Amino acid sequence: MINYREKIADILAPHIEGLERDEILPMIEVPADSSKGDYAFPCFKLAKIMRKAPPMIAKGIAEAIEGEKMFQKVESVNAYVNMFMSKAEFADNVVKEVIEKDEDFGRSDIGAGRTVIVEYSSPNIAKPFHIGHIRSTVIGNSIYKIYDFLGYDTIRINHLGDYGTQFGKMICAYRKWGNKEDVIREPIKSLLSYYTKFHEEAEKDPSLEDEARAIFVRLENGEPEEVELWQWFRDESLREFNRVYDMLGITFDSYNGESFYSDKMPAVVQELKDKGLLVEDNGAQIVKLDQFDLPPALITKSDGSTLYITRDIAAAIYRKNTYDFYKNIYVVASQQNLHFQQWKKVIGLMGYDWADDCVHVPFGLVSMEEGTMSTRQGRVIFLEDVLNRAVEQTRKIIMEKNVNTENVDETAREVGIGAVIFNELSNYRIKDYVFSWDKVLNFEGETGPYVQYTHARACSILRNAGEAVMASAKEGFDASRITSDSAHALIKLIYEMPEVIAEAGEKYEPSIVTRHIVDIAQAFNKFYHDEHILVDDETEKTAKVALVMAARNVIRNGLDLLGMKAPEKM
Ligand code: ARG
Repeated sequence: MINYREKIADILAPHIEGLERDEILPMIEVPADSSKGDYAFPCFKLAKIMRKAPPMIAKGIAEAIEGEKMFQKVESVNAYVNMFMSKAEFADNVVKEVIEKDEDFGRSDIGAGRTVIVEYSSPNIAKPFHIGHIRSTVIGNSIYKIYDFLGYDTIRINHLGDYGTQFGKMICAYRKWGNKEDVIREPIKSLLSYYTKFHEEAEKDPSLEDEARAIFVRLENGEPEEVELWQWFRDESLREFNRVYDMLGITFDSYNGESFYSDKMPAVVQELKDKGLLVEDNGAQIVKLDQFDLPPALITKSDGSTLYITRDIAAAIYRKNTYDFYKNIYVVASQQNLHFQQWKKVIGLMGYDWADDCVHVPFGLVSMEEGTMSTRQGRVIFLEDVLNRAVEQTRKIIMEKNVNTENVDETAREVGIGAVIFNELSNYRIKDYVFSWDKVLNFEGETGPYVQYTHARACSILRNAGEAVMASAKEGFDASRITSDSAHALIKLIYEMPEVIAEAGEKYEPSIVTRHIVDIAQAFNKFYHDEHILVDDETEKTAKVALVMAARNVIRNGLDLLGMKAPEKM
């Protein structure tokens, strides 16, 4: 695709004293108000260099570049040079390319030959997979998709929380009060109930804690009976998690979680010692981080057992050695900010300069309208239940609205689950948000169903246009027929999509893509509303169908980057 901004910099450069083309480039603006042009160049900065008043400079530049064929019109307004594109030429370039590249429009190869690890979801074994986990799961999946689209080699890791003293308690509780059938039928609810019972009983009888500790030691030592139970809990939990991943269409390349690093820890502790970083503190081993104004990192407890951070240090080193990553991204709640700050500093102190390539991507809290959650008090909202409810409600809406679909079940699934994903990715990730059913499933707001519906509408127009017109639009079209304000506004947004995707990747912020496809959907609907598309005039019809194809492609590609389906009928 032609990079118009660069082209404009080339055009401006000869007429601007004292600034290089590459300095001019970032100064070119896209005015929010299109009556001020498609691009604008502010001249304030030039006043000193050119020793003239900015409006005078703007006027001079405008006159000098007016004749360029890329522009339909160039104006100077106060200190600005406002540039209006030749709409037909612009439309021709953009729409043609989007149709040609189809699924690959917006794809890039900037990441070629570089490996990026995206770690996300990472729930804890035998604990509920609840609505709070949606965030890491869905944001992480989208970040993975964006990096993949940008040409990086990606590795998706689910760093399962499958290690720790709680498994001693769990095994102890299972042996006392559990039964196999229940665990198979409802693994997490059953295991959780045993675990809760353990805590109740341990209040009365503290010796249970010792028993559990002894069991954990056996587990750590690899005693077959304990390992077998732990493995079984893990498998059953994962089976339950996988049901949710299947619904969301999410997969991983690796489920190496905390337990995977248990045998890699002694070496890490030794390395920390060798590098003179470990300090004893009441029997525990810590790394001091005073120089960074951070509390110390606790590496081993007084009984010698390792901690969450120890396993994360081991994991980072393992990942560097195994994947030689360009970036190692952790999509984990902002509650763990301190943990990741400490962890990164420790890795830096160990002398690993790749600590800077490890990125914690935090996000805010989600709460439910109906009230807060509390695992301990059993007020848990399971993610699976939320997804099922979204599908059910969507099915009802589909029936009421008489939505055009041959397969109600599939459409309800794609739209219902898509709605939850879209909602999740609508705001800046760092913001806390309240999950509201009305907002999620609204077909008219800035929601998933709205964007999917717009995509289906485009598909329906194309079906009505017929194969012959689409084929001829692919061959070529008269772009002067798609230069109306609403067509031009739509084409501009389509043109920006590749930049938007790159920016979303750089900022680890899928919501940038979400917002942009909402803008595109709105612009498309405005175009649809303002203009008759399937007109009698073949030339005009073909050009408009070409634009509809381009819009459909971009919306579909955008939805895919969010991890959503784009049904063709709705
Ligand atoms: N299992 C943890 C939790 O649920 C999240 C793990 C995050 N990843 C990491 N490498 N520490 O809180």
